[in-house]
Amino acid sequence: MEAQAVKSNLVLILDYGSQYTHLITRRIRSLSVFSLCISGTSSLKSITDLNPSVIILSGGPHSVHAQDAPCFPDGFVEYVEKTGIFVLGICYGLQLIVQKLGGQVAIGEKQEYGRMMIEVVKDYGGLFKGKNIGDKQVVWMSHGDEAVKLPAGFEVVARSEQGGVAAVANPGRRFYGLQYHPEVTHSPEGMELLRHFLFDICDVSAGWKMEDVMEEEIKVIKGMVGPDDHVICALSGGVDSTVAATLVHKAIGDRLHCIFVDNGLLRYKEQERVMGTFERDLHLPVTCVDASVQFLSELKGVTDPEKKRKIIGKEFISIFDAFAHDLEKKLGTKPSYLVQGTLYPDVIESCPPPGSGRTHSHTIKSHHNVGGLPKDMKLKLIEPLKLLFKDEVRELGRILDVPVAFLKRHPFPGPGLAVRIPGDVTQGNALEILRQVDEIFIQAIKDGGIYDEIWQAFAVFLPIKTTGVQGDQRTHSNAVALRAVTSQDGMTADWYYFEHKFLDDVARKICNSVRGVNRVCLDITSKPPSTIEWE
Ligand code: XMP
Repeated sequence: MEAQAVKSNLVLILDYGSQYTHLITRRIRSLSVFSLCISGTSSLKSITDLNPSVIILSGGPHSVHAQDAPCFPDGFVEYVEKTGIFVLGICYGLQLIVQKLGGQVAIGEKQEYGRMMIEVVKDYGGLFKGKNIGDKQVVWMSHGDEAVKLPAGFEVVARSEQGGVAAVANPGRRFYGLQYHPEVTHSPEGMELLRHFLFDICDVSAGWKMEDVMEEEIKVIKGMVGPDDHVICALSGGVDSTVAATLVHKAIGDRLHCIFVDNGLLRYKEQERVMGTFERDLHLPVTCVDASVQFLSELKGVTDPEKKRKIIGKEFISIFDAFAHDLEKKLGTKPSYLVQGTLYPDVIESCPPPGSGRTHSHTIKSHHNVGGLPKDMKLKLIEPLKLLFKDEVRELGRILDVPVAFLKRHPFPGPGLAVRIPGDVTQGNALEILRQVDEIFIQAIKDGGIYDEIWQAFAVFLPIKTTGVQGDQRTHSNAVALRAVTSQDGMTADWYYFEHKFLDDVARKICNSVRGVNRVCLDITSKPPSTIEWE
């Protein structure tokens, strides 16, 4: 399908802050339909510029009656009706439709949270007519308010077992609403309903492929970077920057100049290993800069996680600036762009949900890719992956012939081991101890054949000393923690269930071979409530 046709099939999600919003985007992309998510309070122009064929209003934590309740912009209803766009409201989205189109939403007599049975009462508009969609089904509810009076022309399509409105429709005006969350797996028939809604009701065509993404991105990069412009890219040895660099290289060839910075916060023998692979497999010209002394001296005594990230971001940029300066001397022209492997979850996590009153509410951490770049940075950014999830980047990498070993590597954060040593990273021998422990853990995971089952595994250095007894002697040494999680995109994660024997072997090996460690703990929290990294 032509890029233009893919765009004219866009399903646009207006985000009202639900924790599930990004899942809607993923579910729709998994149906080979391009989907984007923007703030639910975006201007009408930013919505019309995207020319969507379907708009989904997401759920959210607000009440439509709250003073600062987020809402679509003025003129939205007129715009969608004039252009024939289909609108599906989910949870808060349904309530917005009901309230804004002249109905009534009130605080529910019974609040509905969790699994709930719903039943179709009148399938007005055929919302539940899909092949594998039952008249009765279990869904996932999460709401306090409820629609008590529908706007003219709307009908109740399904009700919950408690009698609440579960689905509404006004097919003539192309408005539909679900009070439950079809995007979560706890609504087993939800995916079928989304498929049926998009393909049978909205007549959207599937055709979004990674090949299209690649072609489109190459076109965008060529259009953006002038014929004499040079671009630099920092390679971290991870999937994202490698795929981003390979893509940009395909677009502009040797006007791309890569740099690999050893910031002193890398894993065991990472510099040698990564540089070897870049040369051998990727044939990308890469300059290696050892800046470990510079980074570590700036980090000395710093304990605040956000401060650490900002310092690291700043140091990276000063090195990129110096690299650009050196290139200018060599090439006679200064590189004007910097490639970053920023992914969609980084962008989502760095944006506030509307109505939160905060400017950066889900800024749980300022990912240095997004949040930590200094305002006075001289290089302009190219972020060719910023609309993709991790698994999509891996697929793009396969199309670009990036070696599988690279694509399968677990993610590693830009600030490196600094976010795995709570407190001052320069304390004692923390970095060296952590490198050794991490290497033993990861090697054991590889030897056990479970590396590919795990999204990310690593060790954490705990800045506390505990008492132990080793070789009949009392010790007062450090504890370390092991963390391994499964995840689809890093936005949510479960801790990985290791076999007891595996854990026993690893803990034993760590204590026996790493001087300064006498205790090994296992992190058994999921995300949420924890994050994947410790800082
Ligand atoms: P969290 O810890 O936020 O991590 O659950 C989600 C994913 O993002 C990675 N991560 C980072 N990557 N700069 C990065 O480039 C960062 O500051 C950063 N913090 C976390 C983390 O490793 C996981 O894959």
